[in-house]
Amino acid sequence: MTDMRDELRSLFSAITGRDADGVWSAPGRVNLIGEHTDYNEGFVLPFAIDRRTLVAAGLRDDSLIRVASTFSDDVVELPLPDLAEAQRDGHLQGWAAYPLGVAWALGEAGADLSAVRGVDLVIDSNVPVGAGLSSSAAIESSVGVALAELWNLELDRPALALVGQRAENEAVGAPTGIMDQSASLLGRPDAAVFLDCRSLETAIVPLGLAEAGLTILVIDTGVKHEHSTGGYRERRASCEAGAAAMGVSSLRDLSVEDLDLARTMLDDVTFRRVRHVVTENQRVLDTVQALRSAGPQAIGDLLDASHRSMRDDFEISVPELDLAVETAQQNGAVGARMTGGGFGGAAIALVAEDAVSRIQVAMDGAFAEHGFDTPDTFVVRPSEGAKREP
Ligand code: GLA
Repeated sequence: MTDMRDELRSLFSAITGRDADGVWSAPGRVNLIGEHTDYNEGFVLPFAIDRRTLVAAGLRDDSLIRVASTFSDDVVELPLPDLAEAQRDGHLQGWAAYPLGVAWALGEAGADLSAVRGVDLVIDSNVPVGAGLSSSAAIESSVGVALAELWNLELDRPALALVGQRAENEAVGAPTGIMDQSASLLGRPDAAVFLDCRSLETAIVPLGLAEAGLTILVIDTGVKHEHSTGGYRERRASCEAGAAAMGVSSLRDLSVEDLDLARTMLDDVTFRRVRHVVTENQRVLDTVQALRSAGPQAIGDLLDASHRSMRDDFEISVPELDLAVETAQQNGAVGARMTGGGFGGAAIALVAEDAVSRIQVAMDGAFAEHGFDTPDTFVVRPSEGAKREP
């Protein structure tokens, strides 16, 4: 991290000819449990990971916002007062739509973009892209905390999460929920963020992984997904149709006991989508309770059940994710599931610390046997949310 910060400061100077005013960072996230529940006003339990996006930022003497990054040669610039029009006309494109979208959404949240000073942003990241670990929320959250501080905006973390979500929904065009930005902004070391996506109330739930001799392994299958298109949007629409057919404003209002009635009122596919969300909400509540009363060793069955529900009812898994989960389970994982929006990306496994290398070897072997590309398997640690770097 120190190296990344120093390198980024040097890059900022090389690009702008002056020193940055500061470096801010925000992490990617792993969702422990609670998938496709956020936009149904339900419960989620993600944690921030030790992979971060860094942004070096410096105020300018004019009104331009200028963004550069280590992952593209493009430097994109725009007068801040023109952002609203550019957003309306769909001119925020590519990776720059994330940081520019955040500046735009800050304007919508009350920042006066015709009065604030222009800013240079240079971004670097070690959150893998396309792995379902929220590299996009990490950009949004790091840029959000940087601009909020530089522009002296009175926005707390939950408000910044909404700003990031708005950038994602309206500038990038992905109809996602509030989970990823919340995890990236509110995460704490060794803990998960329990979020009620209706009230936006949060509680920090200690995970106690080290005390239990456990760790979380991410298995990035390398299968790429995109949430602005296809399956994610379709699942969201099914959930909304299911809620409407059941006469509730969101699936949050249904409990496991309502499923018998739902079965008689919904077509088979919609029923299974609804059953996933309703049972997943209950699994999140059960996981929080199990963590508090018995620790991480007690949540394995809930993780496994969550995966089955996504595979069979919500149908968002892919063969590579199923193989990763099965391989972890067969090699002694406490529990395993795909994480994130699905249709690719990563699975997680809760495993004993001393089983990590054995499971990595087993994973490579199983993927080779099935003719799949070797996955990227690595440990993640629950880490601190967005912050200004020293
Ligand atoms: C993506 C979205 C989140 C959430 C998950 C599924 O990560 O960004 O808002 O909906 O998918 O749980």
